[in-house]
Amino acid sequence: MTDGEAAPGAPEFAYRAGEFHAEEVALSRIAAAVGTPFYCYSSAAIERRYRRFAAAFADRPVRICYAVKANSNLAVIRLLARLGAGADVVSEGELRRALAAGVPPDRIVFSGVGKSDAEIAFALEAGVHQINIESEPELSAVSAVASALGKTATLAIRVNPDVDAHTHAKIATGRKENKFGIDIAQAPGAFRRAAQLPGLAVAGVALHIGSQLTDLGPFELAYRRAVELMRALARDGIALGRLDLGGGLGIRYRHERPPAIEDYAAMVKQVTDGLGAELEFEPGRWMVGNAGVLVARTLYVKDGVARRFLIQDAAMNDLVRPALYEAWHEIVPVREPAAGAERRPIDVVGPVCETGDTFAAQRPLPPIAAGELIALLSAGAYGAAMSSSYNTRLMVPEVLVRGGEFAVIRPRPSFAELLSQDRMPDWLAER
Ligand code: LLP
Repeated sequence: MTDGEAAPGAPEFAYRAGEFHAEEVALSRIAAAVGTPFYCYSSAAIERRYRRFAAAFADRPVRICYAVKANSNLAVIRLLARLGAGADVVSEGELRRALAAGVPPDRIVFSGVGKSDAEIAFALEAGVHQINIESEPELSAVSAVASALGKTATLAIRVNPDVDAHTHAKIATGRKENKFGIDIAQAPGAFRRAAQLPGLAVAGVALHIGSQLTDLGPFELAYRRAVELMRALARDGIALGRLDLGGGLGIRYRHERPPAIEDYAAMVKQVTDGLGAELEFEPGRWMVGNAGVLVARTLYVKDGVARRFLIQDAAMNDLVRPALYEAWHEIVPVREPAAGAERRPIDVVGPVCETGDTFAAQRPLPPIAAGELIALLSAGAYGAAMSSSYNTRLMVPEVLVRGGEFAVIRPRPSFAELLSQDRMPDWLAER
């Protein structure tokens, strides 16, 4: 069984009466109100994904900690929190976002390969559910900070199972060569040390082998190794009640056929059968990736000598995934093309001064004229969250749709706001 999405994107995004809609709202209506470019998310799509994930594990004690890094808008986090989601955070900033959105601290897991003492202290004061440790020096640091505060840090140790996740090299995290986790062969020593250090309560094993995995095999291999480790530790007198299986389940951007969550769940239940541990998950992309689009307006159609270009008002600073990972995002015209409209290869680019500012090269698209809107699909995860104001472009606004209504959940800033972030040193002040 595959994920069940018939095409890239989500069914909540579709043409209705010749216009691309998010649920019941025409994207052109949002463009008229908000301007372009903008991100648009579907509440129904996010809810549908969360409920499906939760249903797949309804017969087990599980904790679903949404990986906030995928889309960290407070409204998106709150929507998921109201459905029962916890949060997986990797910085004080993300922890503050999760708390501000209303995620109870005891549903928050603090991950990340380099936490500062200040971040560790903040997490302990907040009372997070668990801190995931990624190195021996970090064990010592958490022990020291917890002892100084008179607190006990409940933790899991993230192991590196040395498994090839078969994904883009920049988002594979489970090989020996990667900076993440403690090598699984060295993990028993780390657990023994942790049991002796003051201020620590060791609760579990954690792992996360990469992102956008489209195959169950690597997950299964890694999970089997983690379960073996837990059984070996139990024989050594270190009984652990939690297993954090990370995130990483892929979505459909193009032709991928990622496994269905129900099959993933069946595999997890089989591998962890009889373990008696609470399972924790950190899905990011799977929850929100196909629940968002980036809408841009075509500024120019440029006929180059060798290529034809569709120049958009969105750019790599708004959606960096194509430039960074050669990622494919499906592109659709917001006005439905005529049936049988001829598709011609064209380069879809932004205005930023880099050749890497290309959303798609030689993409077969129906005719799109200057002034027309396009939507880049599957942009709900790692889109707005990775955006910047490079080229002093205003950060792209975000809009959340629910049924027939929409709300701006992050407005476009003004140029005055953007420029006012800089400060002039005294010696450059005007005389
Ligand atoms: N847990 C940990 C410890 C992680 O490092 C990550 C993602 C997740 C959970 C969530 O993974 P997901 O379910 O979203 O695959 N910017 C890249 C993806 C980076 C993923 C980083 N870690 C992209 O746009 O493809």
